[in-house]
Amino acid sequence: MAAVRVQSLAGSGMESIPAEFIRPLHERPGANTDGPSVKVPLIDIANLSGTTHQGLREKTIADIGNAASEWGLFQVVNHGTSEELIQRLQGVGKEFFDLPQEEKEKYSNNSAVGIMEGYGTKLAHNIDGKLEWIDYYLHMLWPPSRRDFKTWPRHPSSYIEVNDEYARALLQVVNKLLSALSLYLGVEEHAMKEELGGEDLEMEMKINYYPPCPQPELALGVEPHTDMSSLTLLVPNEVPGLQVHKDGHWVGVEYVPNAIIVHIGDQLEVLSNGKYKSVLHRSVVSKDKVRMSWPVFCTPPPNKIIGPMKDLIHDKNPPLYNAKTYAEFKHRKINKLEQ
Ligand code: OGA
Ligand code: NI
Repeated sequence: MAAVRVQSLAGSGMESIPAEFIRPLHERPGANTDGPSVKVPLIDIANLSGTTHQGLREKTIADIGNAASEWGLFQVVNHGTSEELIQRLQGVGKEFFDLPQEEKEKYSNNSAVGIMEGYGTKLAHNIDGKLEWIDYYLHMLWPPSRRDFKTWPRHPSSYIEVNDEYARALLQVVNKLLSALSLYLGVEEHAMKEELGGEDLEMEMKINYYPPCPQPELALGVEPHTDMSSLTLLVPNEVPGLQVHKDGHWVGVEYVPNAIIVHIGDQLEVLSNGKYKSVLHRSVVSKDKVRMSWPVFCTPPPNKIIGPMKDLIHDKNPPLYNAKTYAEFKHRKINKLEQ
């Protein structure tokens, strides 16, 4: 049976949302867990390049390390990916979601059997399984040898070219961030990148499409979760909605034009032996606007074993996590097994 797309539901003119989308009271946006108006760290990373004054570089590395330890989420500007490229990326993604529904269905994934690549919508797995107000598209982005263009949108025709360009630009940002995150921990600059597979590091592109929701105060776009990735780099459109859990409160992430939002994911928490925090986050939806976001999940290759980095472990810092392959980690997380 074909999944019911949230975009189609939203377009049908309903005034109240189906019961499966209604969250329990304590989960609803606007419940008393909403936080004070603090802002997530915003970091200018222009000074990470080797040519700048050493003191400025060290200050930037410390800002990144502190944000990764205290928040697990921060935004970066002056990251070297042009505004024009980000606009093109968003343009081709939006064009896909603006296609007629039957065109999009040609790319349907098979999430019921665990094949997540392609166009998808969450299916309720059990009687009280709640649904999320979101449709998405997922495909492998990097490395080139792991891409299968059959699973990518073929419309618009520039989709592949634009995403390839974005992947190459984003990889530079990932490299800079992993270097800074390594140096802050006192390990060799390339240590984290190597732990994550070096040149085999993988990137997956997700396009999130959150249609307008007639009752946004009752629903969630994505429910609270941490990302399984090492880092997630996300560019949103201008409609706010991402929230991060900080000191027991949900804090909204402000829209900063041309910034990239960086999440610390589970693999960096493990590698850093808990120093960096895989951040709990969720998204809320809007009554009259389409929200879209483009997270890229940077992950180790499936067979790479990830555990606390050896150089960090000593008598006073014993390992807090079991080492295992990324594939095993993923399997356990999806099936809610102990890690
Ligand atoms: C995700 C996610 C947040 C957003 O897709 O993993 O957390 O802002 N998205 O869309
Ligand atoms: Ni996420």
